Amino acid sequence: MTERTLYERLGGAFAIAAVVDHFSDAIVKNPIVGQKSENPALREWHTSNLDRLPGLKFMRTLWVCDVSGGPFQYTATKPGSTPVGLEAAHRDLKISPAQFDEVAAELGRTLDAFKVPGPEKGEVLAAFAAHKGEVTAGYVAARATAREILRPAVI
Ligand code: HEM
Repeated sequence: MTERTLYERLGGAFAIAAVVDHFSDAIVKNPIVGQKSENPALREWHTSNLDRLPGLKFMRTLWVCDVSGGPFQYTATKPGSTPVGLEAAHRDLKISPAQFDEVAAELGRTLDAFKVPGPEKGEVLAAFAAHKGEVTAGYVAARATAREILRPAVI
């Protein structure tokens, strides 16, 4: 018998879309990464760009369907270094590692609310964590540049 894909075990596109819908709404209200975030780009996006939220939910759903082994192919509007790469899509948002972790925690709470079983929850969170470096690349690069500028001149 062939192993069922994560996509199948999650319940397919409709179940994944329901989770992404709930999760994306929770992110808007989340105090660390949502409308009250201390990150100005995230604060601004979750306040003034909400006309993009339905599209973001679609793109996130497509991405999860793709990486979980479903019959859909994600195509980025801002292509990264791999077909499911996320660095270009997030560069200007300057998401810190701690902000990323808060989004992962919010995803964990959503998966619990939908009673997604432990093994599948673990696999979804691992798929997210695997892209942490890409999502936080803009923050890391900005910090490195700031260090470069602020480094005292060595004579
Ligand atoms: C592995 C974790 C993540 C995944 C899988 C993911 C997925 C995506 C995808 C598929 C897009 C659309 C890209 C495109 O248009 O081509 C996107 C954009 C976006 N993501 Fe993420 N994301 C992640 C982490 C985060 C985090 C931590 C935040 C912080 C709140 C965030 C906020 C956003 C926002 C605001 C956009 C919209 C940019 C726009 O207006 O086009 N993402 N994300």
